[in-house]
Order: sequence, then C-alpha cells, then structure tokens
Amino acid sequence: MSIEDCTIIELPKISDERGNLVYLEQDKDFQFSIKRNYLIYGVKEGESRGYHAHKELEQLMICLAGEVTIDLYDGVNKKTFILNSPNKALYVCPMIWRVLRNFGRESCLSVLASERFNPEDYIRNIDEFKELARIYTNKAK
Ligand code: TYD
Repeated sequence: MSIEDCTIIELPKISDERGNLVYLEQDKDFQFSIKRNYLIYGVKEGESRGYHAHKELEQLMICLAGEVTIDLYDGVNKKTFILNSPNKALYVCPMIWRVLRNFGRESCLSVLASERFNPEDYIRNIDEFKELARIYTNKAK
C-alpha cells in the first residue's frame, strides 16, 4: 500500500424527489473490516488537526457536512484532497502523515477505521515518521 492507493472513492448515491441516499459496502467500495467510527466536528475556525501517521491503521474519511481539506504525505510525496460531499470517501492507507484543515463551522468528518483505538499505532513525531517511512517504502519495493 502506498500514497498512490490514497484516492477518493465515489460512493453510490440514490437520489429521488425525497432527497439523497449514499451507501458503502465492505469488499466492494472498500477492502477492510470496520472496527471503529469516530466523528470530528465543531472544529474552531483556523484550527487544524491530525499531524500524525498510523503504523497499521486503514481509514476511510467521509465529510458528512461542510468541507475539509486533507493533506497526505508519505515522507516523499504529497497529495491534497478536498472533501465536500457525503458521497466522497477518502481512503488513507497505513504510514501516511495527515493534516486536516479548512474545516467550516458546520463541518462534520466521519472516519471509519480498521482497528479499535490504539495509541501505540500512532506516530506523532514528523522526524520519526520520515525515518520509519523511508524503511517502510524500501521494504515495499
Ligand atoms: P487524535 O487522533 O489526536 O485527533 P486528531 O487526529 O483529530 O488531532 O485524537 C484526539 C484525542 O482523542 C486523543 O487524546 C486520543 C483520543 N481518541 C480516542 O480516545 N479514541 C479515538 O477513536 C480517537 C480517534 C481519538
């Protein structure tokens, strides 16, 4: 898995005169088992979050309301995504540094995660991340 795999998945949307319905299905729209869901909302203007990577965790990020900008970094390459619709899910693979920014007042980000919360899975120091990412990328070659 690499930053190349971190892409927006367009979720199936069913719209009629009553409104919209969006769904996502494991093994079809995404390939891991969901063990946890958390929401980030009420983020103060100008505030940014994240600034960490995960050693093993896989995630799907869906902006349920408003918008959010997500910067991804694998130690070499960078990608930026704007999530602004509930039918867009951003897949984030392991060993990706992420920054979440540009939240609107009403923004609500839902994160579906492959594991339960585990502080040991976090890399919160950017220099440590760059070093581990270099080893990880070389192993993947
Ligand atoms: P953190 O992952 O640092 O948030 P962000 O990436 O948005 O900056 O988490 C913030 C706090 O919440 C931290 O103390 C850990 C805790 N937390 C949980 O207890 N369970 C969870 O599922 C998550 C994601 C965080």
